[in-house]
Amino acid sequence: MSTTQIIYIRGANILLPDGNFSLGDVKLGGGKILEISSELPAAGESEMDLNAEGLTLLPGVIDPQVHFREPGLEYKEDLSTASRACAKGGVTSFLEMPNTRPLTSTKEALADKLERAAQKCLVNYGFFMGATPENLPDLLEANPSPGIKIFMGSMHGPLLVDHEEILEPIFAKGDRLIAVHAENQDRINRRREEFAGQTDPAIHSQIQDEQAALEATQLALKLSKKYQRRLHILHLSTGIEAELLRQDKPAWVTAEVTPQHLVLNITDYGKIGTKAQMNPPLRSPENNEVLWRALLDGVIDFIATDHAPHTLEEKAKPYPNSPSGMPGVETSLPVMLTQAIAVGRCSVAQVSNWMSTAVAKGYNIPNKGAIAPGYDADLVLVDLNNYRPVLASELQTKCGWSPFEGWQLTGWPVVTIVGGQVVYDHGKLNLEVRGKALTFDHH
Ligand code: DOR
Repeated sequence: MSTTQIIYIRGANILLPDGNFSLGDVKLGGGKILEISSELPAAGESEMDLNAEGLTLLPGVIDPQVHFREPGLEYKEDLSTASRACAKGGVTSFLEMPNTRPLTSTKEALADKLERAAQKCLVNYGFFMGATPENLPDLLEANPSPGIKIFMGSMHGPLLVDHEEILEPIFAKGDRLIAVHAENQDRINRRREEFAGQTDPAIHSQIQDEQAALEATQLALKLSKKYQRRLHILHLSTGIEAELLRQDKPAWVTAEVTPQHLVLNITDYGKIGTKAQMNPPLRSPENNEVLWRALLDGVIDFIATDHAPHTLEEKAKPYPNSPSGMPGVETSLPVMLTQAIAVGRCSVAQVSNWMSTAVAKGYNIPNKGAIAPGYDADLVLVDLNNYRPVLASELQTKCGWSPFEGWQLTGWPVVTIVGGQVVYDHGKLNLEVRGKALTFDHH
């Protein structure tokens, strides 16, 4: 099967760009969506028919924050296993973070990742450049990449850029998008000493507290405003940051939230222990509510998983030796669709906007995030009528666990299509499919 093959998706409930659903057929060819109609003519001999009766067709998920561990940490995950997990989860494109080994802080390291992805990735890919206190020349030159990632906190070594004097020149020079992990490392360091010796993982949310997140977000906003620099605030975790943005969010600033910061909270340490440990940490149930409101009101623009796999063995170490992070790409869409269908938090169209359309818009990714003629044929057919549990035994991620194990979810992907090729079909992956490097329009 190739991108040139014509595929007819028959009888799907299709999410249209205006947010309405329409029952009908979609014709794909040349990697693109060619036609949408209530009924298209019968398929020719070499063409493929895909029966989608009872299924809902959404634009493929674009996950704008993942950690896929290759190169250097492949014992946790690699681009093959991670992109299989994406295909199974309906994630047709991802933007990956620079904390691999070597760090993605040079043009050469970025080129190496792109080459590896071209060999291995079943879905489309983009890679952030990481800022260090020294690599401004690399940041100004490296293309194509969605932007520059700055760890203001929660990072050791050269990727930590935590003081205003070092941050300022990065904001001042160039015009690429800057995405920040906003936590104040000085405050975290002080509090780590205060809480030293405590091994209850719930302490993690107190050490890296709400104030640490707020202070870093304030600093990033201040610098972004000073230079009118395109800023994206990664994984917003607190209500106070959301309220700050509600009061004062320049047009060139966007923010994201993870599914786990919406549906998990500090009560989950008691249920899943260090599997609930991530940066920025989970917060109180009240914060879940404020983040939901901010997302529904458009203060938060879109959703990312922060997929950050660690082995079960690593996670079994007692806090604080347990690493922070949890996987997410193969559960994010059903977790969010279950919030829409079963919990009634939002609509299916809103979920699709937050997980695809708004991401494509925020990162200026052309021709993605909508089901319309001329758009790339990156699509997912989901089943909104049945519930299935999250089972560790079915996971494609190399780490082999999920914080959502046992959760009964609806909206599981049944078929995933990348660039007009079926990469996942009723539980089976097509390992021959390869995604493409994402492109980013710049103003
Ligand atoms: O919990 C986290 N884990 N947050 C991050 O920002 C990094 C990530 C990782 O790479 O493990």
